[in-house]
Amino acid sequence: MDQIQIPTRIGVLTVSDRASRGEYEDLGGPAIQKYLQEVLLSPWDSIYRVISDEQSQISETLCELIDIHRCCLVVTTGGTGPAIRDVTPEATEAVCTKMMPGFGELMRKVSLEKVPTAILSRQTAGIRGNCLIVNLPGQPRAIQECLDAVFPAIPYCIDLIGGPRLETRPDRLVAFRPKK
Ligand code: MTE
Repeated sequence: MDQIQIPTRIGVLTVSDRASRGEYEDLGGPAIQKYLQEVLLSPWDSIYRVISDEQSQISETLCELIDIHRCCLVVTTGGTGPAIRDVTPEATEAVCTKMMPGFGELMRKVSLEKVPTAILSRQTAGIRGNCLIVNLPGQPRAIQECLDAVFPAIPYCIDLIGGPRLETRPDRLVAFRPKK
């Protein structure tokens, strides 16, 4: 009998005052979904939200996506910079039990090869339950640059925290799992 594969759920969270007010079209959230479509082989579905740069709302939405909707990965875009309203890293840290600083370090390193203002992003990553949260900057072009750098390690990270097994399309991106 064929095994029914339950799709892996991934949260996509755009944090932007202006996009949440409808003043401009959100390009970041759809770009993340397009990226996931390209790299993931195993079945997945997404929950997509666009919210304002309010720390409590960001934290509450992360908790909802993880604790209620059971996402194993949440990718945020926006609100990582130095401006007063940029609080996505703080909201992320507030709901995580463990931070994963290597993600931010690597994403800034690859981004710096493209743009000197990459140092202005405080993007980070962390673990809540069986879920990995990864922050990306708001610039749509940053999405592929950053995800290409860190995505090879994401499936193994999700294995280690007890999440579902994510398979990638090897012609597009090879997930690295150390041999046991
Ligand atoms: N990283 C990449 N790869 N590409 C970019 O264009 N923009 C930078 C930085 N990181 C950028 C980037 C800029 S200009 C800022 S202000 C910070 O991300 C924070 O952006 P955010 O507040 O939209 O998250």
